[in-house]
Amino acid sequence: MYPRMAVSSSRIQEVMDTPISINPNEDGITETDSKGYLEFDNVTFAYPGETESPVLHNISFKTKPEETIAFVGSTGSGKSSLVNLIPRFFDVTLGRILVDGVDVRDYNLKALRRKIGFIPQKALLFTGTIQENLQYGKADATIPELDQATEVAQAKEFIASREEGYATHLAEGASNLSGGQKQRLSIARAVVKTPDIYIFDDSFSALDYKTDAVLRRRLKEVTRNAMVLIVAQRVRTIMDADQIVVLDQGEIVGRGTHAELVESNDIYREIANSQLNNQSLTEGE
Ligand SMILES: Nc1ncnc2c1ncn2[C@@H]1O[C@H](COP(=O)(O)OP(=O)(O)O)[C@@H](O)[C@H]1O
Ligand SMILES: [Mg+2]
Repeated sequence: MYPRMAVSSSRIQEVMDTPISINPNEDGITETDSKGYLEFDNVTFAYPGETESPVLHNISFKTKPEETIAFVGSTGSGKSSLVNLIPRFFDVTLGRILVDGVDVRDYNLKALRRKIGFIPQKALLFTGTIQENLQYGKADATIPELDQATEVAQAKEFIASREEGYATHLAEGASNLSGGQKQRLSIARAVVKTPDIYIFDDSFSALDYKTDAVLRRRLKEVTRNAMVLIVAQRVRTIMDADQIVVLDQGEIVGRGTHAELVESNDIYREIANSQLNNQSLTEGE
């Protein structure tokens, strides 16, 4: 035990001593006048230490308030990397990202992240009760608020079916929940926070089609006044977005509505064709 402990503790010390590469900018901007604007202005991004091979190239797009924008593309096309730049999990290499007209690096980092409800590809739940997990984004959320959020996220039923309800203890990595249940809790947690910007990174993939459809319909009601970014593999999940961005190898290769892209974009049509039958391909028109 001792040698293992010695090795671990020096590794832990190393981690603790590593300076944070993202500057929290404590004196940065905390309030903006406008709400609901997002702009990528010629963004190029390479992961730290891999400056020779950027994973995103010259990405530019703009969204309007209350719009839903979706990102599709094959695995490795850069969708997660792109959305991770918005809450500054990493900083851009070139170009800039504006949220409500302000460069994300000019915000007080906490204030920036308060605006954003981020639902990661892999639901991150903590050891603790369901309630503690749900209140992570809003510590003083009341039970009615939790009820509303879990209802929207289609999580209310399975929570109620547990003897201890919200007090149910989650094991490490929430291993006592199914993949879909974890995703729904993670969505509920973001809804509790009532953010200005929702970012769903493939958050619907573990849900069956029916739950996916009901959940997205309910989400539409609570996200009406927010900006919504959706990354998805399933065309059906994003086909009614106001704007769809097609990514391929870190570049934007198409942009438009479902109907426009089916008409004009080979990559998108291929993805759509492989998933939908011909009838629903034109449903969005
Ligand atoms: N933390 C990381 N460090 C280095 N490279 C990464 C990291 N995360 C992803 N990548 C690389 O970036 C590229 C885009 O990946 P990702 O953004 O995860 O794509 P997607 O979400 O579309 O599947 C891939 O080549 C992937 O290997
Ligand atoms: Mg991804």
